[in-house]
Amino acid sequence: MRKPILAGNWKMNNNIEESIELVKKLTRQEYPVDRDIVICPPFTALYAVGELIEDTRIKLGAQNIFFENKGAFTGEISPLMLKDLGVEYVIVGHSERRQFFNETDETINLKVKAAQGHDMIPILCVGESLAQREGQIAENIVKQQLLGGLKDISDAMASKLVLAYEPIWAIGTGRTATSQQANEMIAYIRSILSQIFGEDKAQEIRIQYGGSVKPENITDLMKQPDIDGALVGGASLQAEDFQKIINYQENK
Ligand code: PGA
Repeated sequence: MRKPILAGNWKMNNNIEESIELVKKLTRQEYPVDRDIVICPPFTALYAVGELIEDTRIKLGAQNIFFENKGAFTGEISPLMLKDLGVEYVIVGHSERRQFFNETDETINLKVKAAQGHDMIPILCVGESLAQREGQIAENIVKQQLLGGLKDISDAMASKLVLAYEPIWAIGTGRTATSQQANEMIAYIRSILSQIFGEDKAQEIRIQYGGSVKPENITDLMKQPDIDGALVGGASLQAEDFQKIINYQENK
């Protein structure tokens, strides 16, 4: 049984005070113990948020990582720095980073290794654009992203990995993939993972769906056999909405 994982990606939102306010609301509630909960605030709020969620069910995640430990890399944040803050998860290869910051499968692969090498769990994001879906090359694109992002990752390290399928056309657009579409691609992702790591490992690895996840569609998404959680952007900025998402009714 894969333990569901619900993660909030705050993106470039919330200053320290706003972050504290949101986290205080989130920590006021108890959550079902059968699921993992992660929040990924901006770097500037990681310390404050980390203090507030210590000893709670909520784990700290970062939105990016650099792959060198230290040195002359102006503006970058190293794995050691994230570790120092108590970060346990790191989003890697988000489509916004691929699109706006020219991240490639090669650099993403280095980031996956950097996170794992410092005992943090990368949440590796993959997903196709609308043009790619319409051009019927969505599976090929996702396969390339997986093979590139997971190059030379050992079978042992496969246990320290979360995947997120995020079709670009569904991110922040209000246009969610139907739960069937999401499940189909996620099942395909699992088949590629099985080619890379073997079937047993592939069955262990958790794969989230991301893209306009809301309280209204989470139950349906989580009903799908291959969907193991959600990576939530916009709706994770509202405590009530994110809480409803975390508290979705178990229904597999
Ligand atoms: P969204 O973002 O929920 O606002 O669509 C998801 C993501 O980009 O991780």
